[in-house]
Amino acid sequence: MKTYIVGNWKLNFTVGEASIYLHKLLKKIPNYRDIEVVVAPSALALQSLSLQIDRHKMKLAAQNAFYRDFGAFTGEISFSQLRGLVDYAIIGHSERRYIFKEDDKMVAKKVAAAIRNKITPILCIGETESERAFGETSDVIRDQLMGGLSEIGDDDVDKVIIAYEPVWAISSTKAAKIASPDEIADSVKIIRRNLEEIYGKKVASEISVLFGGSVNSSNAGAYLTVPGVNGLLIGGSSLILSEFSDIIEVAKRVQA
Ligand code: 13P
Repeated sequence: MKTYIVGNWKLNFTVGEASIYLHKLLKKIPNYRDIEVVVAPSALALQSLSLQIDRHKMKLAAQNAFYRDFGAFTGEISFSQLRGLVDYAIIGHSERRYIFKEDDKMVAKKVAAAIRNKITPILCIGETESERAFGETSDVIRDQLMGGLSEIGDDDVDKVIIAYEPVWAISSTKAAKIASPDEIADSVKIIRRNLEEIYGKKVASEISVLFGGSVNSSNAGAYLTVPGVNGLLIGGSSLILSEFSDIIEVAKRVQA
C-alpha cells in the first residue's frame, strides 16, 4: 500500500512563493513510487502549479471546493473546474467545519462531487477537545465518517481517503496537545471497525487512513508506524521545505 504524505498549505504563500517552494521541493525529493507526495496550495495557485508540477514526483490537491458543478454560486469554485488540475481534494477539514460552518450534509455532497469529477476526496474527521473529554470521540468519528460517505454508492467508498485529525492536536488550535500513537491507534481502529460494519472487511482494510495534527519530522516516524495509519496530513511543517522533505525521507525509511 502507498504511503501518503500530504501538505496542507492552508491560507499561506502567494502564488509566487508557492511556485518557488514547489520548484525547490521538486529538486530536493527523489521519485519514490510507493510514496504519494501531495501538496494543497491556495486555489489561486493551482492553475500555474499544475503546469509546473512533475506528476511522477508529486500531485496537487484542492483545499476545498463547492459541490455544484456550475451555476449562481458567487465566489465558489467547483470540482468540475478543478478536474484535470488536481488529483485530490481535502474535504471537511475542521477549519471548514468550525470556521465556515460546514456540516456533514455539505461535506457528503462535496465528497460525491469530487468522485463524480474523478478527484480523490481526502475526507477529514476528528473530535474536538471537549468532545473527547465528554467521552464522545467514537460517536463523533462514526457520525462524521458515515455522514461524509452518505452521498456516494458503496462501490465508490474505496475511492475515498480518510484523514483522522483530532482538532485538539492541530498546531493552530489554542493550547494544542500532541496526540499519542496509542490515542491515534484507538481512533483508527474505530474508523476501520465502522467501515467494516457498513461496507465489509475488504473495503475497511483497503481504505487509506491518514493522521494529521502537529506532525513534524521528529514524530512522523512514530505516527507512520501506528497500525492502520497509511500516511500523514501535515499543516505547519509542510510550509518548511526541509521539514516536509525530511518527513518524506522518514516515510521512505519506515516503508523499507
Ligand atoms: P498542523 O500540522 O499544523 O497541526 O495542521 C494539521 C492540519 O490541519 C492539516 O490539515
